Amino acid sequence: MTKITVSAIKADVGGYVGHSDTHPRVQDAIESHLEDHADVLENYHVTSAGDDLQLILTHRRGSDDERIHELAWNAFESGTAVAQDLGLYGAGQDLLSDAFSGNVRGLGPGAAEIEFTERPSDPIVVFAMDKTEPGAFNFPMYKVFGDPFNTAGLVIDPSMNEGFTFEVWDIEEDRRVFLDTPEDAHELLALIGAPSRYVIKRVYPREGNKNDPDEPVASVSTEKLVDVAGEYVGKDDPVAIVRSQSGLPAIGEVLEPFTFPHMVSGWMRGSHVGPMMPVSMEHSQTSRFDGPPRCIAAGFQITDGNLVGPNDLFDDVAFDRAREQASEQADYLREHGPFEPHRLPLGELEYTTLPEIMDTLSEEWEHMDSSKPVAQATPVGSVE
Ligand code: F6R
Ligand code: MG
Ligand code: MG
Repeated sequence: MTKITVSAIKADVGGYVGHSDTHPRVQDAIESHLEDHADVLENYHVTSAGDDLQLILTHRRGSDDERIHELAWNAFESGTAVAQDLGLYGAGQDLLSDAFSGNVRGLGPGAAEIEFTERPSDPIVVFAMDKTEPGAFNFPMYKVFGDPFNTAGLVIDPSMNEGFTFEVWDIEEDRRVFLDTPEDAHELLALIGAPSRYVIKRVYPREGNKNDPDEPVASVSTEKLVDVAGEYVGKDDPVAIVRSQSGLPAIGEVLEPFTFPHMVSGWMRGSHVGPMMPVSMEHSQTSRFDGPPRCIAAGFQITDGNLVGPNDLFDDVAFDRAREQASEQADYLREHGPFEPHRLPLGELEYTTLPEIMDTLSEEWEHMDSSKPVAQATPVGSVE
């Protein structure tokens, strides 16, 4: 049997209301489009996180397949038509091109995909975050695959003892590097501790693992909307797929990093630092200050190419404390109002609407050693 591919493709095609949630009729339209074109798929499931919809597709056509991406694009377009009829906010927001051309990457939607040999029983988790950037997955991915204090299997399971290989993308320079843990852990952390630039794209098992070292065990969507649109149109709100068990981190090890609400960029106007709150699907609506940033976890067993699930994995009282902690951190940060470090540093605000505010002062600035007005505003992010 050919390998199975899981594609998680996401887009925001309209918020209900504002940027807080999706509308059930949009999801219905997308599901019925997929149903009508299901011949190319093994199976599909549509879910949502905040104002983003995720298409979880299984098929036998590999990653980056044109027909699958076109199907996803057309499904999002049919959702956009309903969003426009309903007057939803930002209808079609993430479909940044007038027409599909070859691959959703570079057109607005985000995609995480893995092609692999299906095991006799194959558990996966699809994570979807809202109100944040792709690098928000750096922290949990490192904990899951690189940190023995999180993942007991790195110490106890002989299949995982050699560690994992991380594929890290420099999304500013369009280049990538492969780093092996444990031996390259410090270099890896030097990069991924700066998540606005260095992003974990994929993770692979190493020789000695009972899973194929050429088949990724995790994949993250790394598309940056601002690079596609050339201006701020919303945060990227990434998705990730993680394969689990049998020589890979157990489901509980995959979820464990989310007991700590780590700080991420995004939240209100994509311009703030806020805690990542793990939530059940029912609670993914981002209404407080357009957030705080959230993550859902949809668990599936892949069985003969079918998606058996989802199991709503953060719907567990054991994550209540993380949610409470995230709310406390949110209160603390909100008290700062427009002050850093709640507000992002100037360099990261370059692509938001803040520079327009700065521009209004351009004629007002005076050099302190002369009374002459300064002709040009000091660019945001630069220090003289
Ligand atoms: C964040 C986000 C929202 C909007 C905010 C303002 O990713 O999408 O926080 O930035 O609601 O939206 P506009 O400018 O459309 O009124
Ligand atoms: Mg939105
Ligand atoms: Mg969103």
